[in-house]
Amino acid sequence: MSTKQSAKRSLNGKVLLVCGGAGFIGSNFIHHIFEKYPKVRIINFDKLTYSGNTDNVRDFVKDARYTFVRGDIADQKKVTAVFKKYQPDYVINFAAETHVDRSIHVGSLEFINTNIVGVFNLLEAVKVGGTVQSFVQVSTDEVYGSLALDSEDKFSEHTAFAPNVPYAATKAGGDMLCRAYHNTWGVPVVVTHCSNNYGPRQYPEKLIPFFVLRMLEGKTLPLYGDGNHVRDWVYVLDHCKALELCLLNGKPGTVYNIGADNEMNNREIADRILKYFGKGKDMIEFVAERPGHDRRYAIDASLIMKDFGWKPEYLFDQAFADTVKWYTQNRKWIERVRRKTGVFNPHIDLWEGHKNKK
Ligand SMILES: NC(=O)c1ccc[n+]([C@@H]2O[C@H](COP(=O)([O-])OP(=O)(O)OC[C@H]3O[C@@H](n4cnc5c(N)ncnc54)[C@H](O)[C@@H]3O)[C@@H](O)[C@H]2O)c1
Repeated sequence: MSTKQSAKRSLNGKVLLVCGGAGFIGSNFIHHIFEKYPKVRIINFDKLTYSGNTDNVRDFVKDARYTFVRGDIADQKKVTAVFKKYQPDYVINFAAETHVDRSIHVGSLEFINTNIVGVFNLLEAVKVGGTVQSFVQVSTDEVYGSLALDSEDKFSEHTAFAPNVPYAATKAGGDMLCRAYHNTWGVPVVVTHCSNNYGPRQYPEKLIPFFVLRMLEGKTLPLYGDGNHVRDWVYVLDHCKALELCLLNGKPGTVYNIGADNEMNNREIADRILKYFGKGKDMIEFVAERPGHDRRYAIDASLIMKDFGWKPEYLFDQAFADTVKWYTQNRKWIERVRRKTGVFNPHIDLWEGHKNKK
């Protein structure tokens, strides 16, 4: 790590409130922070929705530095009580409804409650509590909408929001509240927009673990539309390190885009997974396009690179192979997730239902 990439402040001796720390990125963040700052105290505040999983933070259950509080960020009383009791120095919010397909097929109200009302409650608590030095709101590149496949454009921090699906619209709503709370009351908030993450402990509704599970079950890999949708894939620990820098070095009111300059379309991801399992392209099936499906995302991460010297450290080939291997080696984790929730992808379930009726 270059000197510039080092965090200017330390979390040792501090209280860090992590909201949504039982999910994919939040749990990887907690692992990273405990490893780096042995004297930090972490409060993990999580509602444990279908994607929240205490197995993801099992390593810390008996750790005196770790406290788990089950609660909903959309519940203002509970949020206020947690701030009052633990008086956090730092706050980072991963708590969100995150699956685009659910925002389309299941409904958007939960997305509005968590991604907008929940963020509002956290901002209010930071504003009123007065103990928080820095609050990071973890957001997504999906707020910017879609780029053309044949363009070289990238999303910068100045790109106008143009969300195309309810998930992205609610994330944009939360981000706008952060901007307003900083500009109106000086709330020390930094907002980040990262592109697609991959890595261990991701709920198997998302592309990579979903495909790996289907391979393990001997099923085909369903691609939406023509499968040429492009995402900029970032390894989850690179994202976590960027978030750590935003939390400790970020100037309040700043927005940072995070991406690895690693554009790949869904066909390429499917091909890599097929290759890993020694299967042919006959295992790919094309299914109905998802409504509002964005064509391409690409991130201009030059600001975070310039300000903090951050850059992605993990090489895609190795980190991708390690990720696939993690799911093949953690069958117990998969079985527990499957028993708890069952349905992973409502869009694919609908398609399989129609297919099986024929
Ligand atoms: N996964 C990605 O590729 C990606 C990319 C960029 C940004 N993000 C953003 O990162 C954040 C975390 O994403 P993730 O993939 O880890 O999501 P996830 O679905 O794996 O985890 C979300 C966590 O939040 C918890 N949660 C949900 N609603 C809550 C509520 N109302 N109160 C308290 N806890 C609640 C869940 O129980 C779960 O533990 C999200 O804000 C998402 O928009 C994700």
